[in-house]
Amino acid sequence: MSLSDQPRYDHLFIDGEWVLPLDGETAESIDPATGRGWATVAMGGPADVDRAVAAARAAYPGWRRTPGHVRAAHLRRLADLFQAALPELVAVESRDTGTPITDMRGGLAGQVQWYQWFASLADKTHGTTVPFDDTVHAFTTRVPVGVVGAIVPWNAPLLTTCLKVGAALAAGCTVVLKPAEQTPVSALHLARLVAEAGFPPGVFNVVNGTGARVGAHLVAHPDVDKISFTGSTATGRRMLVDGSANLKRFTFELGGKAPHIIFDDADVDQALNAATASAFRLCGQSCALGSRVLVHRPIYDRVVDEFRLRAGRVRVGMPDDESVRMGPQSHAAQLEKTLSYVDIGRAEGADLVAGGNRITRDGLADGFFVEPTVFAGATNEMRIAREEIFGPVATLIPFDDEDEAVAMANDTDYGLTAGLWTRDLARAHRVSNRIDAGSVWVNTYSFVRWNLPYGGFKASGWGRENGLDALAPYLETRTTVMSLTGTFPDNFPEN
Ligand code: NAI
Ligand code: MG
Repeated sequence: MSLSDQPRYDHLFIDGEWVLPLDGETAESIDPATGRGWATVAMGGPADVDRAVAAARAAYPGWRRTPGHVRAAHLRRLADLFQAALPELVAVESRDTGTPITDMRGGLAGQVQWYQWFASLADKTHGTTVPFDDTVHAFTTRVPVGVVGAIVPWNAPLLTTCLKVGAALAAGCTVVLKPAEQTPVSALHLARLVAEAGFPPGVFNVVNGTGARVGAHLVAHPDVDKISFTGSTATGRRMLVDGSANLKRFTFELGGKAPHIIFDDADVDQALNAATASAFRLCGQSCALGSRVLVHRPIYDRVVDEFRLRAGRVRVGMPDDESVRMGPQSHAAQLEKTLSYVDIGRAEGADLVAGGNRITRDGLADGFFVEPTVFAGATNEMRIAREEIFGPVATLIPFDDEDEAVAMANDTDYGLTAGLWTRDLARAHRVSNRIDAGSVWVNTYSFVRWNLPYGGFKASGWGRENGLDALAPYLETRTTVMSLTGTFPDNFPEN
């Protein structure tokens, strides 16, 4: 396909209008399955951020005053339009991220429920009354924090966007969205749906661009009240510094290095289904992955053998092939990062028992494909057990007893998710209760839903998305106290 045949996305979405970026830059978005550009997309700069923030600021008082049930109606319309647009959204999102079409279909269909959930929360931003005595009436009201910058990554662009935008709009905030530069397309389709749903101009804006130019400017912007970010812990730390001048609020959904613990009393076949799916699905590009597989020593060799066999059975291929279970890494830098960890693991003395190479067979050689990879004989001290790889690399570590499993599970900077396989009910409670992670899945894995709070302990983040907790990060609590007597003692009476 020549450049001129590519779909073109020449505009940003600001103040309800499709506008050209002020400095007129465009970039090609790469199809990671072919390594070639597939769409031409407008890239904004700081001046575009300024206009988008001004639009969001101007729209804020009206949106904040809009009754909750009316905000809910807008979100329900968006959910319906999202549902109707699924085939188109699945196609562009799969193309831009490299996620297999079958996974994409399931994932995006689920997001309709997410938008419905946020709609259902929009009229539930009420506060509480606080009983005191009959001289005062004390109550709290909750006020939207204002203009929110939503900065999202490339592994699941529409999902991470939905969790932020759905909650922020439900709460009465206005939004400037900055998609990842590797996957800029689907946000523009979403913007069209937002416009069709009748949201007032300026309530939702999209400025594509790089993290360094557009993202950093949004974070530092004095008129942005809050940043909601999903991405790397390193970038989150950087944002804290850049956003410190106006003491911005932050919600962070950062990395993970989840333990997936398999005890010898587990249904090992089921555990293997979950553990291998969790390691290899989405080409390893999810913060929730159980990439640290902690295995009870009596079953360690069996689990290693099965992991090796199953890694070899993963159907890797073009994302638009219905039978494919694993696509490419979403961009070249992530492929390089994953391959670098194969070298790191080897140098640390772990046994590479499966995979480890870029896939160069016919048809895949130009894409960013990597083999499902398994390291055995690893320890929890190795970098492959401590650092987020974000590729299809499982690290299998043996443990001897429950205390050691828990200690290893918690011996990490992260604390986003964890998995636990056992048939012993008391052990399930004991161990899950000792794990420092935002989500613990027992005899299942990656059970993430709209109504379940999701977020990290420790370096995995701040705040929660989803569940009834989803609105809290977008609301300030105001406490109002009214005297019922109207009297106030004179502190400085004449003697
Ligand atoms: P990143 O955190 O740098 O990028 C994510 C988003 O932040 C993108 O939209 C990017 O443009 C923006 N960004 C980057 N620097 C910024 C800055 N200084 N100010 C404002 N915005 C900025 O992550 P990256 O480099 O794409 O991936 C590196 C690693 O991060 C991955 O290999 C993975 O380990 C981790 N990661 C974790 C994710 C998660 O779901 N928690 C998602 C994506 C990456
Ligand atoms: Mg792309």
